[in-house]
Amino acid sequence: MNRGPFIFLGVFIIVVASWTYVVYKPNQNVGRLTAIIDEEQGGILPRGIQGAASHGREVYQELGCIACHTQQVRVATGTDIERGWGVRQSVARDYIGETRALIGNSRIGPDLANIGDRRPNANWHLLHFYNPQITSEGSNMPAYAFLFETREIVGEPSVDALDIPEPFAPENGYEVIPSREAHSLASYMASLKIDYDLIEAPKSNEIMAEELAFALENAAQ
Ligand code: HEC
Repeated sequence: MNRGPFIFLGVFIIVVASWTYVVYKPNQNVGRLTAIIDEEQGGILPRGIQGAASHGREVYQELGCIACHTQQVRVATGTDIERGWGVRQSVARDYIGETRALIGNSRIGPDLANIGDRRPNANWHLLHFYNPQITSEGSNMPAYAFLFETREIVGEPSVDALDIPEPFAPENGYEVIPSREAHSLASYMASLKIDYDLIEAPKSNEIMAEELAFALENAAQ
C-alpha cells in the first residue's frame, strides 16, 4: 500500500496546527496592539526610551543582566505587587515599543520592570554597579567594577568621580570614574517605570485606595 498521501496529510496537519497556535493566534491576540494617548501627561503610552537609556538597554543585554532579572510584574502566580515590584500586572502592550522584550525567566534578583519608580536616583545605581555591597549589604549580585576607571587624581578631583563611602572608597589620591556604559545603564534603570494605567491592566485596587487616601489627606491640609 502506498502510505505517501497519509504521511503527507499527517505532516501537513501538524505544520498547519503549529503555525495556527504558535504564530497566527498569538498575532491575532496581541499583534495589533497600538500605543495609546496619555490623557494625563500628553504623549503616548507606553512611553518608550531614548538617548542614553536606550544605549543602556544594549549594555543590559551585553552584560547578561537578564540571567538574574525579569522585567515582568506578575499577579497570577505570585506576590509581586506585595513585594513592591510594581503597581499593576505587566501586559503585552507594555512591550510593544521593544524590538526584543527583555522579560527574562530567572529571578535571582528582584524584578526590574518598575525599578525607575523604586530607585529613581542614577547615582544609587552607579554605586550599586561599582560594588553592590555599598548600597545593599550582603548582596550576592556580582560587582561591575570594570565599568569604572580607578585613576590617580591629577590636580582637582573630577566632578564626574563617584562619591564612595568608607570602607569602599579607593586609596587616597585615587578616584573612580564611571564609563559611558555605566552612565547609560544607570539611566536605563531610572527609565524603567510602569506607573501608568491601561484599560486591560488598571493599577491594583489596594494601591489606588492608598493613592486616593494620600490625595485626600493632602487636599485636607
Ligand atoms: C548573578 C545574578 C545577578 C546578575 C547577573 C545581576 N544581578 Fe542585579 N541583583 C541580583 C540580586 C541577588 C539583587 C538583590 C541584592 C541587591 O540589591 O544587590 C540584585 C539587585 C539589583 C538591583 C536593585 C533592585 C532593587 O529592587 O533594589 C538592580 C537595579 C540590579 N540588580 C540591576 C542589575 C543590572 C543592571 C545587572 C547587569 C549589569 C544585574 N543587576 C546583574 C542579582 C544579579
